[in-house]
Amino acid sequence: MSKLAVKGGAAVRDVKTNPWPTWPVWDETEATALLEVLHSGVWSYSGPKETQFNRAFAEFIGSKYALSAANGTVTLQLALEACGIGYGDEVIVPGLTWQATAAAALDINAIPVLVDVTEDTWCLDLTKVEEAITPRTKAIIPVHLYGSFVDMDALMPLAEKHGLWVIEDCAHKHGGQWKDRKAGSIGHIGSFSFQLSKLMTAGEGGALTTSDPQLWEKLDALRNCGRRPEESPDADKGTGLYGDEGNFIQSGNYRITDFQAAVLIEQMKRLPQQNRTRDDNAIYFNTQLASLPGVQPMRRDERETTEAYFNFAFRYDRDGFKALPTEIFRKALAAELGCSVEACYEPLNACALYVPHTKPWRHRLDDEHFRQVDPKRFELPVCTRAYERESVCFHHNVLMGTHADMDLILEAIRKIYDHADELK
Ligand SMILES: Cc1ncc(COP(=O)(O)O)c(C=O)c1O
Repeated sequence: MSKLAVKGGAAVRDVKTNPWPTWPVWDETEATALLEVLHSGVWSYSGPKETQFNRAFAEFIGSKYALSAANGTVTLQLALEACGIGYGDEVIVPGLTWQATAAAALDINAIPVLVDVTEDTWCLDLTKVEEAITPRTKAIIPVHLYGSFVDMDALMPLAEKHGLWVIEDCAHKHGGQWKDRKAGSIGHIGSFSFQLSKLMTAGEGGALTTSDPQLWEKLDALRNCGRRPEESPDADKGTGLYGDEGNFIQSGNYRITDFQAAVLIEQMKRLPQQNRTRDDNAIYFNTQLASLPGVQPMRRDERETTEAYFNFAFRYDRDGFKALPTEIFRKALAAELGCSVEACYEPLNACALYVPHTKPWRHRLDDEHFRQVDPKRFELPVCTRAYERESVCFHHNVLMGTHADMDLILEAIRKIYDHADELK
C-alpha cells in the first residue's frame, strides 16, 4: 500500500487525536458582552458598544477615526464614494484579490482597472500600477494579503504625484504593521472586514479608518442613510454635503448592531497576541521551508515589522518537486495534514464571481462602459501563474498552535516529495 495519506496510507497528522486550533476564538467575555447588550435594549444605531469600539479601533490602528459598518465590501464602496468617485472613473485594483475589491468600484459605476502583482509577494506591482494610470484614474486600492504588504513607501508618493486617493483594503491585515504604522493608517482610508474567517470577527462586519475629518464626516453620513454625524468633533462643516436643512446626502443603511460591536471589542483585545503567535510560527516554518526542494516562502519585506496573516501561503515549483502537478501536491498535503490547502484567489480576469456583464439592467449603462469593465481585457500573467501553478494556501488557524504543528507541515512536504512518484 502507498505510504501517502491521499492513497490510503497513514496521515502525518491524525486530526482525531491532534486537531488543529479552531476558529473563531471566543470565551465568556464575548458571552457576557453580548448579554450586556441584550439586557440594555440598545441593540443598534450608534449604541455605546459601537462608539466604544470605534474609538478603540481607531486608537489601535493609529488613525484619528474609525467607523464600523455592515461588512468589508460596503466599506470599500463607501470609501470610494467619500472620495467623490463614480461613473466612468478608473480605480486601480490588484488582479489577485477577493472579488469585493473590484466589485465595490463596479457597484458605483466606476471602472475597475485590474493590475498584475509581483511574483514573490502576490501584492500590487507598482511598476504596472504606474503604467495603468490614465487621466481618468482616481484611486488605487492596495490589498495587503498572503502575509505580504504592498510597498507603501513607494505607493504613497506615486499616488500623490498623480493626485490619486489610496484606499487600503486591509481585510487580511488587521494589526499588520509597515515600519511604525499599521495597515489602514497609511492610505487616505483603510477598509476592514470582520467576516467569520477574518482575524477579528463578529460573524459579519466591517470598519473604515481615516485621519481626515472631512472624509470621516462623509463616511459617517454615507453609512447612515446620509444623516449628518451626531458627533463631529473637528470635522469641517463646509463639505458641501448637506442641503440648507443641514442633514442630507443620498445614501443607504450600512450600519452594524451593538451585538457585533460588543464581540469586536473582545476580539480586538486578543488580536495582538494572536498575531504574535501566528508570526512566530510563520517565521519558524519559513526559515526551514527555504531549505526544502520545490517550495519557497513568500518574500517578507524587512519593513513589515508586525505581520498579520489571514491566509498563510508559500510558493510551489513543480519542476523542482519532481514535476508533481500543483493540484495533486495540494490534495496530498491536505490529506497528510487533515486541513484545507487551497490555491490563491482566481485572477479577476477569470473569476467565476466577478462577472460585470451579468447585470446589464442595473444601471442601463452603455456598451462602451461594459467594454471598459470587461475583466477579460486585462492581462494578468503573474496572477494566473500563482493561481494555476504556484500557490499553496492555508487558513490562519494553522498558525495558531505551536512549532510542533509547523514541524508536521514540513514533515508532510518532505514525505510527499519522497513519494512523489506514487502520485504520477
Ligand atoms: C481582500 C478582501 N477585500 C474585501 C473583502 C470583503 O469583506 P466582506 O466579506 O466583509 O464583505 C474580503 C472578504 O473576504 C477580502 O478578502
